[in-house]
Amino acid sequence: MTGAFAGALLAWFDRHGRKDLPWQHPRTPYRAWLSEIMLQQTQVRTVVPYFERFVAALPDLASLAAASEDRVLALWSGLGYYSRARNLHRTAQLCADQHGGELPRDIEALAALPGIGRSTAAAILAQAHDERHAILDGNVKRVLARWHGVSGWPGSTTTQRILWTHAEQHTPSSRVADYTQAIMDLGATVCTRSRPRCTECPVAEHCAARRGNLTTVLPQPKPK
Ligand code: ADE
Repeated sequence: MTGAFAGALLAWFDRHGRKDLPWQHPRTPYRAWLSEIMLQQTQVRTVVPYFERFVAALPDLASLAAASEDRVLALWSGLGYYSRARNLHRTAQLCADQHGGELPRDIEALAALPGIGRSTAAAILAQAHDERHAILDGNVKRVLARWHGVSGWPGSTTTQRILWTHAEQHTPSSRVADYTQAIMDLGATVCTRSRPRCTECPVAEHCAARRGNLTTVLPQPKPK
């Protein structure tokens, strides 16, 4: 089932979404995982050349697991947050040793691997297998806090629980990969932290923050 929110986002994605990113062609679990880890703290346009260089050197999980840590860190060099690269390497080795040389398809097992976590695991399975899983990264938290008018700091347990419920309810049962990409792109490019471009937003009409003039207030910052 596809609700009004997801339907509007998918129509927006068809017109404006990024469909030519290197990790989308082909969309394999390894490439989805690598791109999601690179994108955790880094913007798409910065990630693209690093991603291309990385997969040219280490095209699959087996080659990554067999590489030296120095090689992996050299390929990561310039992207920053180097614990991401160490976790990536460690996860590849764990998959080689314990998961038959593949990323687990089970969300709990995937989320338990170093550097992954619930939302990244969901993004990987949604992108690689079009499986229905809700995601809730920083961008998506902002979109949903505004659209539903959820107050409270999105890092708190209570607020996160509310946002996860909304995230689950909006996730459609088909075109999950496109929907996942669409909501992340919306947060990154339209529903930005400061000065969101509400006139370009496909779901502005029913957005609580927009109606209440609260886009500068939501999501609420961490309490001091
Ligand atoms: N941030 C994390 N994952 C992303 C993705 N797939 N596209 C854009 N931004 C992202």
